[in-house]
Amino acid sequence: MRKYIPVYVRFPFFYAMVFALTEYFIDSGDRPAFLKFPIVPIIHVILIFVFIAVEVITKAVDSISYHLLTDEDKIKFDIEEAKPFTQTEFYKKWMFKFSALQPIENEKDIELEHDYDGIKELDNGLPPWFTGLFYATIVFALVYLVRFHVIGDYTQDQEYVIENTLAEKKVEEYNKTAPDLMNIDKVTLLTEPAAVAEGKAIFTTNCVLCHKADGGGAIGPNLTDANWINGGGIKNLFKTISEGGRPGKGMVAWKESLKPTEIQKVASYVMSLQGTKPAAGKAPEGDVWKEDGAEKSTTPEIAVTDTIAKK
Ligand code: HEC
Repeated sequence: MRKYIPVYVRFPFFYAMVFALTEYFIDSGDRPAFLKFPIVPIIHVILIFVFIAVEVITKAVDSISYHLLTDEDKIKFDIEEAKPFTQTEFYKKWMFKFSALQPIENEKDIELEHDYDGIKELDNGLPPWFTGLFYATIVFALVYLVRFHVIGDYTQDQEYVIENTLAEKKVEEYNKTAPDLMNIDKVTLLTEPAAVAEGKAIFTTNCVLCHKADGGGAIGPNLTDANWINGGGIKNLFKTISEGGRPGKGMVAWKESLKPTEIQKVASYVMSLQGTKPAAGKAPEGDVWKEDGAEKSTTPEIAVTDTIAKK
């Protein structure tokens, strides 16, 4: 078999297989494993060397065994080797089924009458693979016609909406496991006791100096009342804590030293202080905050939403 499949065919085939197998079995998400994990190309290179080694060794074994033959056997072997690769009947039959190409011996039978300065034309039929493809397009068109124009499975608008919803779900999933991408658009009030407790710990370390342990306020304002200087609600708190208060008032931008998720937690803790009665709370400063305005989404409306409504 090796005789008939030359190395420049064997090798790309071998490599394509290795490549396909690694891509199939290694779950690399968005990018090909080959690019994502450096170990994969390294393994490929190792396998290429293994392949070359196998080639070299088999060649060596072949030539050693050839030298061990008796002179008589060597001649027999040479004759065998020199025989050209003859196409089997099986191969011929299937190639004909596929291409319908007449063998050279039969060309006399299908020659057309024209002869232009010795240039002749053969009346070959269309190759079956080509006609097959043509019929397949007709079947495809029929199925498409019935599915989308008769039954009306879904319109392109609907397809767009479906794809978008799926993509949004994927983003949601992604954000769940990548919480440090937290920002003002995404921030939500955390109420799970564990998260609030973490927020409390951050508050105790960084904030009590100016806001007191009970949030009653010292240098900084009282955080337990409904009045806010820079706006209330989780989004405004997230913003004030990240970016700092009004200039010159002493509240720094905590994004320099706290991670976005930590700011979310400490802001959630501050929210949990709402309505508590600190021992010596400072008088309220700023306006009473109404939650309404805070929750307005910053995501632009998608133009196709009325398509969903129609559905
Ligand atoms: C150096 C003192 C100081 C520290 C430390 C400090 N703050 Fe402040 N904080 C202030 C001052 C002063 C203001 C008022 C800012 C203003 O007037 O704009 C303020 C305002 C705030 C506000 C907005 C209050 C409102 O009415 O708008 C929040 C929320 C807040 N701080 C949370 C925190 C958190 C959380 C921490 C800890 C990570 C913290 N602060 C640490 C001094 C401080």
